[in-house]
Amino acid sequence: MSEEFAPAAADFPDPFRLLVRETAGSTNDELRALAEGGAPDGLVVLALEQSAGRGRRGAAWFSPPGESLAFSILIRPDEPKALWPRLALATGLAVAEAVESFGPAAGIKWPNDVWIGRRKVAGILVEAGRDYVIIGIGLNVSSTRFPPEVAEIATSLRLETGLEHSRHEVLAAIIRSFARHSREIGKDFDHLLDSVRQRCVLTGQRVSLTTSNGPRQGVIEGIAPGGELLLRTDTGLERLIQADEVRILC
Ligand code: BTN
Repeated sequence: MSEEFAPAAADFPDPFRLLVRETAGSTNDELRALAEGGAPDGLVVLALEQSAGRGRRGAAWFSPPGESLAFSILIRPDEPKALWPRLALATGLAVAEAVESFGPAAGIKWPNDVWIGRRKVAGILVEAGRDYVIIGIGLNVSSTRFPPEVAEIATSLRLETGLEHSRHEVLAAIIRSFARHSREIGKDFDHLLDSVRQRCVLTGQRVSLTTSNGPRQGVIEGIAPGGELLLRTDTGLERLIQADEVRILC
């Protein structure tokens, strides 16, 4: 256990446990291998240095050592597999609440990017196995510079608050909030959704996006009771289970 993260581990609620790796390619891949070997529900793998972090749609995820958090959580849900996609919303909410506990208001760009204002502070990559889910979280804590390809859209807690925040406190805040919300994907989902809706940055916005049936443009009406995104187009209302390249049009 790295000294830096020992206080976070001590603050984790059951069943969460922390494993710190000096380096990892991707913490999602590292944790998947452990999950296949029988690792328990609640195991968290954090990399001090992540050399091949992955984002959604195969994009690279940049996490400079010392400035950001890169970690993954193993969940072995009791709920039926059909409800597992809800973990993406639960995680977005957990990260948003953790960010808010350090000051700034956080928004959720459905399903689970976390924004401060119009910039992304955290990204989440959810990957399911046969009987488990791996939830990878990358959060910019103290970065002040970003690679050119994300410089226009990225931010960090440090940039937004003008303060340094200890990474172990941010990690512990996320896990505490995740412990609550990951239990709400079954019977308390309405409650979880209300909190997500309050933070949904897409509601009321005209957007362009890509669905499994092709590109669409329209206005986001909100989030349906099952967690789907509601898109009003010229031809009617669509419930989207999945959408990529969601862009807000001015
Ligand atoms: C995205 O916004 O595209 C998702 C980014 C997810 C990045 C995190 S960092 C920890 C974990 N390991 C990975 O390889 N990816 C996730």
